[in-house]
Amino acid sequence: MLVIANWKAYVEDIGKAKKLAAASKALARATRSAIVLAPPVPLVGALAPGNRSSVAFAAQDISATTGGAETGEATAQAYASLGVTYALVGHSERRAKGDTDALVAEKLAHALAHGLTPVLCIGERARDGEGRYLSFIREELTSALKPLATKERARVIVAYEPLWAIGKTAADAIPSDNLAEMVLYIRKVLAELLPGKSSSRALVLYGGSVEPENARNLAADSGIDGFLVGHASVDPRTFALLVKRLV
Ligand code: PGA
Repeated sequence: MLVIANWKAYVEDIGKAKKLAAASKALARATRSAIVLAPPVPLVGALAPGNRSSVAFAAQDISATTGGAETGEATAQAYASLGVTYALVGHSERRAKGDTDALVAEKLAHALAHGLTPVLCIGERARDGEGRYLSFIREELTSALKPLATKERARVIVAYEPLWAIGKTAADAIPSDNLAEMVLYIRKVLAELLPGKSSSRALVLYGGSVEPENARNLAADSGIDGFLVGHASVDPRTFALLVKRLV
């Protein structure tokens, strides 16, 4: 299981960030779990350089630009130079601030060009009775992956994060049978987009109110390869409980 800790803007202090990173490294060693930390921009700059520890680092977002006169932008290359190895792309909180499907596709290409493993976030706003949310997911996947060379598409991790389940509690997360269905559907669409049999190896994660209370159940029968965890990743005790439920 791959567990990505999306610290969002919950962590605003380097002291807290260092403690949380140290606790996550110890947890990764003790449980032999694959843990990736995604701190806010300046904090990842303080934590990632020289990292040879049991955790890896992710950017929460990368710029759609490739550098130059672009005040406030943080490019894929800048992250890669720090030792960051993953990048979230198209998180719903970034899409809400203007990331279109076209921008998401550009960001994926930038991440790949600099050796970052992109984590493409997709997810419907709401569920309807007619299955329109399935076509929405198909469209999000297709618009993001199609512009890439087929070989490159296979390097993208998909994080399914239904918007209606984000930032709530375990009781509001997706039921595991619905998640299993969605994972099958995502793999079916990936099989159409990825070369050969590589879709069977593609990693599909789930995010949206994953907490210690529901992590094991969601992991058990849904066919997912890991989690993207928000609020439950920024309290060391809660995060440790969650990760331990998966081993
Ligand atoms: P949450 O966030 O775990 O707080 O629901 C997940 C995410 O938005 O990545």
